Amino acid sequence: MGITTPDDLKHMVLHFTKGKAWRNATMPIFVRGQGIYLWDEDGKRYLDGLAGLFVVQIGHGRTDIAHAAAKQIEELAYTPSWAATHPAAIEASKLVTSLAPGDLDAVFWVSSGSEAVESAIKFARQYHASQGNPAKTKVISRNLAYHGTTMGALSATGLDNIRAPFEPLLPGFLKVDNTLGVTDGIAAAKQIEDLILAEGPETVGLVMAEPVQNGGGCIVPPGGYWPELRRICDKYNVLLLADEVINSFGRLGHWFGSEMVGVVPDMISFAKGATSGYAPVGGLLIRRQLVDDLLDSEVGTFTHGATWGGHPVVMAITMANVTAMRDEGVLENVQANQGYFQDRLAALTDAHDNIAEVRGTGYFYAVEMTGSRSSGDELTEEGAAKLVNELMPGIISDAGVLLRADLRGRPKLVLSPPLICTRDDIDELMESVDQIISRAAEADIA
Ligand SMILES: Cc1ncc(COP(=O)(O)O)c(C=O)c1O
Repeated sequence: MGITTPDDLKHMVLHFTKGKAWRNATMPIFVRGQGIYLWDEDGKRYLDGLAGLFVVQIGHGRTDIAHAAAKQIEELAYTPSWAATHPAAIEASKLVTSLAPGDLDAVFWVSSGSEAVESAIKFARQYHASQGNPAKTKVISRNLAYHGTTMGALSATGLDNIRAPFEPLLPGFLKVDNTLGVTDGIAAAKQIEDLILAEGPETVGLVMAEPVQNGGGCIVPPGGYWPELRRICDKYNVLLLADEVINSFGRLGHWFGSEMVGVVPDMISFAKGATSGYAPVGGLLIRRQLVDDLLDSEVGTFTHGATWGGHPVVMAITMANVTAMRDEGVLENVQANQGYFQDRLAALTDAHDNIAEVRGTGYFYAVEMTGSRSSGDELTEEGAAKLVNELMPGIISDAGVLLRADLRGRPKLVLSPPLICTRDDIDELMESVDQIISRAAEADIA
């Protein structure tokens, strides 16, 4: 077909991609997907070890989802989500809230994770104002956490490299430590209580965290952390947002990661896996009482909305995807195989001295690399950057797999395959990871 010349690529601006990589046209062009695999234009097959970008839970190429989308387009392609609605949005909202924990009984539909987080920040502000607390505007989130690109979500993000180009960001966004390496959940949560007290509880409106934090590498919280967050937020009348843009829709073996940490937050932001990537979606689940309190207040409305929120085709796809995930036992598959996945990762760690640690749960893991685990030698900063930025893309591609090499904290490989992966598929993925880690050990990065 000859579509990959540098000239062809020049008409688009790729997301978070260095100009050098984008201009030299060495990046793959994918043309087809089926199950857990993608094919590029040269016919090379890749195991999609990142499920796109933590997205494609049910796998690629589902004709049933395509048919559901086509049927909806034929019946009703578009109507907005204000002043009226449509059956697909009503059904999708019923289904998603029926799977959500506790009284998270209402959903505000948007089109991405950033918009879901942005909606949570705005809901918290307007809710508190409507209840006579207009000064409760500050937001607490955690270091190394990624919450999105819009200015509110970016202000909550704790990654300096993606914040820096856009400073000054919004005021009143405060950071605490994440729980990497922490074993005492109560002590870790106390940092948040101390900050609320130092700032003045009358000024703090929202605490935001992922149950298992992606930035920093699949940081699973210590026991007691989330129940303590819940207690603290209740005590100081602060809303608690679980940002589950990655964690929800089965990634951790549950519909929502909040179930795993045993807490009903006030809001859950979700996106990616709700449609398995068959259409862009985002959503904010909100506790019934909070919605009623705002709607019954003098202001009487959530003054926020978007043209594409609750789009009929996206809602039909959400219904088709979530129904299929439920009926085909996709979460049960994760629960049945996650122990096997972990055993294989533990064996890999034993076999490779350049693996520092593997963290994660469900179908969501970070393989953290170092110089030598046995001697305690760390990679230099330059060595780690060279490995991740220059060498890893080629090494990963040679292994016939799609994975993310991440340089936030120590260099790491992030594994997040489609949730339909069987034990044989996990074996195949592990062979590729084994090859990648071996080549990383031999790489000239001194
Ligand atoms: C936890 C979390 N929140 C928010 C976002 C932003 O989502 P989106 O890229 O759909 O805007 C992401 C994206 O990866 C995320 O991981």
